[in-house]
Amino acid sequence: MEDWNMLSAKQTTSSAPGKLMLFGEHAVVFNHPCIVTAVDQRIYAQVELNESGKLELVSPQLTYTRDLGNLGSPADHPKEAQFVVEAVKLFTSKHMLAGIKIETHNSFSSQFGFGSSSAVTVAVLHALHTITEVSITKNELFSMAYQCVLNVQGLGSGFDLAAAIWGGTLFFVTGGKTIEPIVCPSLPLKVAYTGVKADTVTLVKGVAELKKTYPEVVEHLLMSVQSIVLQAKESIHNNNWDKVSQLMNINQGILESLGVSTPLIRQLSDSLKQKGASGVKLSGAGGGDCLIVLQDSDSQTLQDPSLIDVALQAEGVKTET
Ligand code: MEV
Repeated sequence: MEDWNMLSAKQTTSSAPGKLMLFGEHAVVFNHPCIVTAVDQRIYAQVELNESGKLELVSPQLTYTRDLGNLGSPADHPKEAQFVVEAVKLFTSKHMLAGIKIETHNSFSSQFGFGSSSAVTVAVLHALHTITEVSITKNELFSMAYQCVLNVQGLGSGFDLAAAIWGGTLFFVTGGKTIEPIVCPSLPLKVAYTGVKADTVTLVKGVAELKKTYPEVVEHLLMSVQSIVLQAKESIHNNNWDKVSQLMNINQGILESLGVSTPLIRQLSDSLKQKGASGVKLSGAGGGDCLIVLQDSDSQTLQDPSLIDVALQAEGVKTET
């Protein structure tokens, strides 16, 4: 174990991007691939070493202090502190810290479902390694962040962590078995917000229940999603947006069958299509959050109050200077 007691106080800030699922949500929980892009809505973690013997967390939601030697388990902490405390706990199981203050802030609201917990986990772990000058590869950072997420919420494919670490657009298989960049100069997708915050864990459990009741039916649907993801990967790479649109609509149909779409999503999707969208699908767990929208290349610039301005294919985790 290295001891950072001797270091004089210093600080560093890391930032990590949010994510937007393009294809393959839910299927990716069950060992199928998905496609995700990083969005330039970042979370910043500023880390400062001290000798207080404490972890002090200052975030937009709360200020929280714990003894570093007694970080307990996730259930011992308020929801808003769990990912940060667990990240520090995993780090201090390998490297000793004499005291630490972490301040986080977001460039986006957590309501959109851009993955604030994954981005904060990655940004905190990255900043802890940077400040203590412990080198870590992207793959090692992914494994540690994934462990952290599993310890806190017990489930998840880790696709959001990969987006936060690597950035860009990725082809991803459950648990990071494959993490492969998809090279395309730009993604002409728009993002619409439903106005409703989704609860990922409940929706993932709902699909797991459906799969338990109808194993063959649901596995067929998930295999179809896999086929969509593989074709979408090619189509995105080849800039074949007509095909991407069609694949989005088919994927949306399957998500409807899995029970994770809502009347509001359908309504918004119909309205966007009337205004010139050729492909619309929910993005992420469903139940609300965001939709991805592809515009028909012939129609005029799509306008709708639900559309939000986000840059896609953002850079992965980095140190802020
Ligand atoms: C949630 O944004 C996406 C899901 O596939 C869950 C996951 O992959 O962890 C539903």
